[in-house]
Amino acid sequence: MGKKQYKFSSKAVDCYFDADFSLLEKLVSQENAIIITDDNIASIYKETFKGWKVIAIKPGEKNKQQSTVDHVISELIKLQADRETFIIGIGGGVITDIAGYTASVYMRGIKFAFLPTTILAMVDAAIGGKNGVDVGVYKNLIGTIRHPEFLLYDYSFLKTLPKEEWINGFAEIIKHACIKDAAMFELLANNSIEEFQNSPAKVAELIKRNADIKYNVVSGDEFETGERKLLNFGHTLGHAIENIYKLPHGSAISIGMAAACKISETINDFSATDGKRVIDLLKKYKLPVYLKFDKEKVWKVLLMDKKKAGDTMNFVLLNKIGEGIVKQIRLHQLKELFNQVRKKFAKSPLGDLGV
Ligand code: GLY
Repeated sequence: MGKKQYKFSSKAVDCYFDADFSLLEKLVSQENAIIITDDNIASIYKETFKGWKVIAIKPGEKNKQQSTVDHVISELIKLQADRETFIIGIGGGVITDIAGYTASVYMRGIKFAFLPTTILAMVDAAIGGKNGVDVGVYKNLIGTIRHPEFLLYDYSFLKTLPKEEWINGFAEIIKHACIKDAAMFELLANNSIEEFQNSPAKVAELIKRNADIKYNVVSGDEFETGERKLLNFGHTLGHAIENIYKLPHGSAISIGMAAACKISETINDFSATDGKRVIDLLKKYKLPVYLKFDKEKVWKVLLMDKKKAGDTMNFVLLNKIGEGIVKQIRLHQLKELFNQVRKKFAKSPLGDLGV
């Protein structure tokens, strides 16, 4: 087991890599703890969770809404949760968001920790302190920035992770490679999702490497005034299409990254050869790279993006593979750039998501 401490301005978060669920009992008192998870995990791990108080919510991004938080709060009241209560979010990104956000507002904030069970949550959602919910189609419109007390990584939960969720998680891993780690891009290009699935040691190393990338970026810029914006690569178009088209997060940001590569080629000297390599890598990991989206519908959602500042958008481009850069783009120019990308997408085979 490898313990590492991630230090943020308000708190040091202990990360227990390669740990076992049984460690939880040593870190929190079972009496005070309440697990928040989803119905799928609650039913698969019924035996594992025996003796723990559990609140299970319906799975899926469509339930990442304030109404679910209200439901969780009413369950916490039923369990007489107080300021000593310790929330443990066990699940993927939806659960870490709901559990972290609820814990941050319940009684003005109680302690919480995460046991991420998906690749996406392990490398991204559980780290960084941002937790919130969508409002209708608008992604993560309300939320808080508050860190968990600890993160417990038990990789055995990955054994029951559906293939689509592996694919989802690799979208964020490829994002990290594109903006920060050219060597990892090569590693991914020389491997495949199946190779990682079949090698617990390889996947554990990859998860740790990506958790470190996320931590290093966030710890230097917790409140997203600079470097942290890089993590939004692919997320502007990605977030706008995700809920409109009910796409998995990984698919949405993969399409967003493909679009951001095209835009980088147009306005940032990013080479077409590197652009093709990114697209090929996304496809290799079974991610879609285009979508024929409704430009007005998508633009309307995009205008509510938190990265908008006045009449500009902080948009992430690539200089080269492994090096992202944030540029302020005027909204009218961005709309034109997206329309050009959309025309390219429209030439792609009919009825095909570009996988
Ligand atoms: N919860 C994810 C982040 O803070 O970026």
